[in-house]
Amino acid sequence: MGSIAVCPGSFDPVTLGHLDIITRGSKVFDKVIVSVLHNRNKQPLFTIEERIELLKQTTKEIPNVEVDHFNGLLIDYVKKKKANAIIKGLRAVSDFEYELQMASINRKLDEDVETFFMMTNNNYSYLSSSIVKELAKYHASVNDLVPEIVEEALRKKYAFSN
Ligand code: PNS
Repeated sequence: MGSIAVCPGSFDPVTLGHLDIITRGSKVFDKVIVSVLHNRNKQPLFTIEERIELLKQTTKEIPNVEVDHFNGLLIDYVKKKKANAIIKGLRAVSDFEYELQMASINRKLDEDVETFFMMTNNNYSYLSSSIVKELAKYHASVNDLVPEIVEEALRKKYAFSN
């Protein structure tokens, strides 16, 4: 069996920062499963179906990337998919504390699953889905922050607001 990594997130919506991590991860692991969390605590802008579709469209050129979704604990999902790794992007020191906590909890739950961190490309170190939504909401350009189809989807979402 080859190496399978899960790249989890809300992806509301997918940004060029996410795609950078997914693309680089796909060169290291035999298969990368990008999985969208159904997050009941957060009120997402895009439905789960929309987030999955945007991810599928933007990763379709990468043959060893699969898009899926999950509920509940990440570690249970990782085991269900027979994966042995979790991939995360780290943007700045501010991400570190939370990610250390998550990685430690996940290792306590299953020490056979390893979390791998990749430093985000410097061009995207300030980028987040929240920032992208904030800019798009006020009709500022998100041109070089997200793929074109995501920009279009954001434009439609916010077309009648403000
Ligand atoms: O893109 P996000 O919102 O930063 O992604 C966060 C995510 C999905 C990676 C994280 O919230 C997660 O793993 N949630 C699943 C629940 C879980 O396993 N929590 C850790 C143990 S308490």
